[in-house]
Amino acid sequence: MQKNKTESVNPQAGVPEPLGSDCGDSNRITREYLDSLLIEYRHIGSRKPDLKFELFGDCFQTPVMLGGMAAMVPGMHEGGMAELARGVKAAGGVFWSGFIGDDEFARAAATGVRAIRIIKPLRDTKEILCRIRHDEECGALAFAMDIDHGFDDNGEYYPAVPHAYGELGPKTEEDLRMFVQATRLPFIAKGVLSVYDSLKCVHAGVKGLLLSHHKGEYKYAVPPLMVLPEIRKAVGKDIKIFVDCGLVTGMDVFKALALGADGVCVARPFMNPFRMEGAGGVEKKLRQMTLELAGVMAKTGSADLKNIDPSVIIHKSW
Ligand SMILES: Cc1cc2nc3c(=O)[nH]c(=O)nc-3n(C[C@H](O)[C@H](O)[C@H](O)COP(=O)(O)O)c2cc1C
Repeated sequence: MQKNKTESVNPQAGVPEPLGSDCGDSNRITREYLDSLLIEYRHIGSRKPDLKFELFGDCFQTPVMLGGMAAMVPGMHEGGMAELARGVKAAGGVFWSGFIGDDEFARAAATGVRAIRIIKPLRDTKEILCRIRHDEECGALAFAMDIDHGFDDNGEYYPAVPHAYGELGPKTEEDLRMFVQATRLPFIAKGVLSVYDSLKCVHAGVKGLLLSHHKGEYKYAVPPLMVLPEIRKAVGKDIKIFVDCGLVTGMDVFKALALGADGVCVARPFMNPFRMEGAGGVEKKLRQMTLELAGVMAKTGSADLKNIDPSVIIHKSW
């Protein structure tokens, strides 16, 4: 058969990936772990589930929150964050943003959505305190910090570019305590994946933990759901625990909630709906994941978010 003249030929076709290029891929490992968790369905006496989600004194329609993304979402235009926020608000959810500029965060918060910005662990503490103050003024629900972003893969401080507010670096327990005491906003530490860090955060007065390996940014990371029960046991029930990384359906969300999470963040699965349909696509996707969650809750006798029996999760062992 004659080849179509316009068809492009990939010179790499048939060339295998370099040996070991997939080693330690935390996204793959996390997916494998999620798929190793099976669900025990329970039907007798089940009820229509209530998905009301309470967080820091506010009430939402879903525990599925939009994960924090910075302005580099492909297809993002000026005002894009506000559009994302409108989609989340329409679905009754919580909007997290990545480390976007003050003005952009203000525009998103002005939509009326309850918002949480993830502030980078800037080395300049004064800059962090300014950002927290700004979030307070915007009426944010809380503020977060991705404490796992102190160093790059070569053990160097994350560079100033593209972070407009300067170089990043690691934080101490005392630093975290200072941020907690500087504001009335609840502080959530993102990037926690150990009991070690969790306890330090709790001692510093942090109100929430987001268990995350930052979409596979570091290799061989323990899957967040694997370490979740241990962290929940260590910190007790008063600390809010959230999970992200690789949750793509309401089934995944259910597993996280059953294993001890209060809520989840979902980022990448919203990128295409946002690109295709803007705020409407985000709202639709959020509602769809919430309905999937309701479906599995109904079929496991889980009446509400506080009453999901962890024993419905069966660890695959064959
Ligand atoms: C385009 C994009 C931008 C992101 N920007 C940030 C950021 O600024 N700060 C941050 O803490 N995480 C950021 N993340 C990470 C997400 O918040 C989340 O931790 C990660 O994508 C894993 O969740 P997912 O599997 O649902 O995508 C970003 C993710 C994406 C896809």
